[in-house]
Amino acid sequence: MNDRECIEFLQLALPKMEMRWVGFRKVRKQVCKRINRRINELTLSNSSAYMRYLDACPEEWAQLDQMCRITISRFYRDRGLFGHLENDELPEIARKAIGRGEKELSCWSIGCASGEEAYTVLLIWEKRLKPRFPNLEIKVIASDSDPNMIRRGEAGCYGPGSMKDLPEELMEAGFDRSGEQLCIKDRFKNKIKFLNQDIREAMPDGPFHLILCRNLVFTYFNERLQQRILKGIRERLTPGGILVTGIHETLPAGSNDLFLSEAPHIGIYRSYLRPWVNDDAH
Ligand SMILES: C[S@@+](CC[C@H](N)C(=O)[O-])C[C@H]1O[C@@H](n2cnc3c(N)ncnc32)[C@H](O)[C@@H]1O
Repeated sequence: MNDRECIEFLQLALPKMEMRWVGFRKVRKQVCKRINRRINELTLSNSSAYMRYLDACPEEWAQLDQMCRITISRFYRDRGLFGHLENDELPEIARKAIGRGEKELSCWSIGCASGEEAYTVLLIWEKRLKPRFPNLEIKVIASDSDPNMIRRGEAGCYGPGSMKDLPEELMEAGFDRSGEQLCIKDRFKNKIKFLNQDIREAMPDGPFHLILCRNLVFTYFNERLQQRILKGIRERLTPGGILVTGIHETLPAGSNDLFLSEAPHIGIYRSYLRPWVNDDAH
């Protein structure tokens, strides 16, 4: 299957999985490679034969869905964002939580890959903000549908490539060397709970003060699915809580009713202060 055939295949297949081609355009090479491998494994002749196979064996769609997972991540990905979280959003959330008599900040990283983004928030809190808010703990939940990613996150060991944006001081404070790898210290590891969960099927109970949903839902999923998941996210945010999307992502139509655009150029949205009212209940 050449590039053109793969594009045609993806343009046909992705919408059937509530995904959208535009999100995959730049990363299609790795998806096409996996599909090619699968076509060979099944000893099929080409992508049309694979489409017929999908029609005949509906359980194959789950395989294709897995082949469409893009798992790229790294620590402190998008420096501007994490700087802003550290200097503005997290201190404000913390002050308000303390004002309400709360003892813990809760955070959820959706599509967490191997935990890079979840550990980044944790390290920023523990090393840079905790000294200012010593009585406030942080709890981080990190969920991903790929069990291999979850296992890697729980193991907490990474190659230097995924650390290239992480400030030296946080790296020194957070990791121990183990051969070529850097492994997160146990006292940080214990503060993250990893969940092998598909965001389309399940979400952890909230409420969360901060939810990171970056480079997954608002890139790869179609608008209807984005809206459904956004509603679930909104229901799990504390009033005034923060949603962080990827810096190149935009929220679907209708989101203005749910979120204030706090700093949309770096993907920061604030839920309205009034509690969420579930329209379906009326
Ligand atoms: C591109 S990575 C983003 C990682 C991180 N959020 C970041 O921005 O650096 C997308 C992650 O979403 C996960 N993923 C894909 N489909 C998912 C789904 N339906 N539910 C939960 N996670 C999913 C993938 O396994 C992958 O680890």
